[in-house]
Amino acid sequence: MISSHLNSLNAIQIRDQMKHQLDDILVFENIPSTNQFFLDQAILRKQVCLANFQSNGKGRQGKSWLSPPNSGLWLSLQWFENTPPPSTLGLKLALTLVETLNISNLGIKWSNDIVWKEKYKLAGFLIETKQIGKQWQWIIGLGLNIKMLENHQVNQLWTDLYRISGKVFDRNQLTAQILDNFLEILNKKDFEIDQAAWKKYDVLFQKPVVLHFSNQSSLEGIAMGISEQGALKLQINNEIKAFISGDVSVRLT
Ligand code: BTN
Repeated sequence: MISSHLNSLNAIQIRDQMKHQLDDILVFENIPSTNQFFLDQAILRKQVCLANFQSNGKGRQGKSWLSPPNSGLWLSLQWFENTPPPSTLGLKLALTLVETLNISNLGIKWSNDIVWKEKYKLAGFLIETKQIGKQWQWIIGLGLNIKMLENHQVNQLWTDLYRISGKVFDRNQLTAQILDNFLEILNKKDFEIDQAAWKKYDVLFQKPVVLHFSNQSSLEGIAMGISEQGALKLQINNEIKAFISGDVSVRLT
């Protein structure tokens, strides 16, 4: 019988299904945050850290990320290079994730939110960096909702893989596939974004949007895709301007 519960995370099962190699696959039952774990430990190894439950999961823009037990994939991948990550990294990984999941009606809301039917958030990335000596530590955090409880309290529209596909995903198999595809990009240093692929998933394209900045200011414009550097292009008064950071929302007309 197929169980409707999520299977337990298992480092050996993940490793055995992967083509690429990592130094360590660490699995925790309960940890404050997998990203914070790597920020605190500062060990120069290529590792992944997964948690069944995060008590203090971090989201972008200083928000928290609800990470209940037995509900999702809460993982961080630690990588090292002698440069900081390129500005396209999050977009490239988001594109790869959408292609890996291969479920209809999935799209990307710049810069790297994975959404279903344009507005229900399924997954998000939090990329953090730190310099350790001559090396740059890249911490790639991914939160992917797999099968959440009904009463999940979040102040944004959300969904999970079970709701949109009717399937209970095997977390170890899914983790192995996702990591393999991420490692393919990282090993090859292939950070270029294919504009046609981006356009296929870009849910903001030609929509009126508001871009909110961390200093509380905001700008309105029409979203016109992305630049080669992954910046959001906005048409503002017949001029196209590119923005590398900010939190975007679609303006309701
Ligand atoms: C977002 O706000 O969209 C980004 C969410 C990122 C959440 C993941 S869950 C695993 C990793 N550890 C954290 O504390 N955050 C990221």
